[in-house]
Amino acid sequence: MREFYVNGATLRADVLGEGIPLVLVHGFPFDHRMWLPLYETAMRDPCGNPFQWILPDLRGMGTSEIQPGAEVSTMADFADDIAAILDQLSVDKCIFGGLSMGGYVGWEFWARHANRMKALIVSDTNANADTPDGAKKRWETAERVLREGTGFLADSMAGNLLAPENNRSDSPAFGIYNSMVRENNPVGVACAARGMTQRRAFSDSLGEVAVPSLVVGGLYDKLSTPEYLTALAEALPQAIFTVIPQSGHLAPLENPEDYWNCIKVLDNDIIYR
Ligand code: MLT
Repeated sequence: MREFYVNGATLRADVLGEGIPLVLVHGFPFDHRMWLPLYETAMRDPCGNPFQWILPDLRGMGTSEIQPGAEVSTMADFADDIAAILDQLSVDKCIFGGLSMGGYVGWEFWARHANRMKALIVSDTNANADTPDGAKKRWETAERVLREGTGFLADSMAGNLLAPENNRSDSPAFGIYNSMVRENNPVGVACAARGMTQRRAFSDSLGEVAVPSLVVGGLYDKLSTPEYLTALAEALPQAIFTVIPQSGHLAPLENPEDYWNCIKVLDNDIIYR
């Protein structure tokens, strides 16, 4: 893992390979490990890997620290952290990919650093703000995580996030899911949960996101359904939409082979034309 000192904390990211910078941002309450099966799939591809993979752990999550006394990590904070990491890597433009909360960070990265975005991949996400009821539940989740740790989240979320065939203890996706959630830092997780309550809606701005875009979602995603993601892709001016079979909300973790085939399409479209 590479280290980056940003805004009062040491952040870490896996930086792998050489090529077109591809930043992939994890969801909540995960870390960069959710992308490693995809990276390993790419490494086995006889056609090769055209990317420099930049897989950050967001502030306070995974191996990244959080500044002392932090209470909220906003999506804008996360987006600015990634811009700072790119600065320290001397990377100007990237393909920016984000899953779920990582997608919320993607909208903010587009709003704040559009000149650095070569293309956008949004997976299993939405462009909405929280409802008042949803925000209240997140604040309660944050308080409970601080009291009890993250174990209850691993138990309560699996059925909603993983496709039925992956929600079993002998599934590799389940093993990674379980480790990421259980090992996460309760302070960072609470700050991210609170930060999501403060996110703004991008639903009315999607028509302005004028970069090649890929919208990807798991066939069994209950949170960002294929129907919702179809409409999201239609609202983006330059988007391709792909459904990933055998997966729920965590498509690149649950079915890295099909997810990699999607990324290769984007790669051909925007890099080699
Ligand atoms: C995620 O996977 O990042 C979460 O489902 C996002 C959310 O809770 O809105």
